[in-house]
Amino acid sequence: MDKPFAEHMPRDGHDQDELLRRLASNEKMAELGRLSAGIIHEINTPLSVIAAASQMVLCERDLPESVTEMVERIHQEVQRLSQLTRGILSFSREEDGAEGESDVNLVLQEVLTFLKYEIQKRSTIVHEELDPHLPLVKANQNLLKQIFLNLIVNALHAMDTGGSLLVDSSLTDNMLIRVRIRDTGTGIPPASLDKIFTPFFTTKDPGVGTGLGLYVTKNNVERLHGSIEVESAEGEGTCFTLFFPTL
Ligand SMILES: Nc1ncnc2c1ncn2[C@@H]1O[C@H](COP(=O)(O)OP(=O)(O)O)[C@@H](O)[C@H]1O
Ligand SMILES: [Mg+2]
Repeated sequence: MDKPFAEHMPRDGHDQDELLRRLASNEKMAELGRLSAGIIHEINTPLSVIAAASQMVLCERDLPESVTEMVERIHQEVQRLSQLTRGILSFSREEDGAEGESDVNLVLQEVLTFLKYEIQKRSTIVHEELDPHLPLVKANQNLLKQIFLNLIVNALHAMDTGGSLLVDSSLTDNMLIRVRIRDTGTGIPPASLDKIFTPFFTTKDPGVGTGLGLYVTKNNVERLHGSIEVESAEGEGTCFTLFFPTL
């Protein structure tokens, strides 16, 4: 966190030098942020193409097992990379979260299509209960997509074959859009529930989990002036509920 502005104020000549140094360094950091956001945008485009293409290959019937295995690896690694780049991008100031208008249902459906292969592979049963008459939310589509992607990927990771995933959207009495993502997975032990939104908390193997997903997700939801809640029962499943203000 930045210090309050008063703490940057010079108290004597010495401090003035220090202040100038700090300003110069802040500018450099901002420039670096802009530069890396640009590079990451460039990386994201080919990554999405590789992800979509590998998913299409995997949906082909009668592929030799060795090919399926290799393409599966490609698909998994590309997904991991794109989650990473989206995570970095969401920290950069280049992407203004509350800019734009989004149709929550459309974004949810896009994410489910993007994850079609993961869903098929686990024989997860998906129940979509989307209210077709929702107002738009004031949100950048990419940011919203990243929020849903993180939560749905976590839900899929938590379930064995044949689990069920509920994705529903509705309008509350006080005009908030409510989205729920509920799984019938492992659930989260009460002792971990307080920790899941903190950075680097993960119960997954190194190389699988970064522990940044929910931390980034909560940050992103708050950038949209929304809120996120979780309920979980060990051995039964988990439900994440999101509320977003409407336009
Ligand atoms: N739907 C879920 N069901 C069970 N556990 C979950 C679920 N979502 C998150 N978790 C727990 O919270 C941890 C942190 O999640 P996250 O921040 O996305 O990091 P990561 O997925 O990289 O581990 C996970 O490792 C897991 O233990
Ligand atoms: Mg995760």
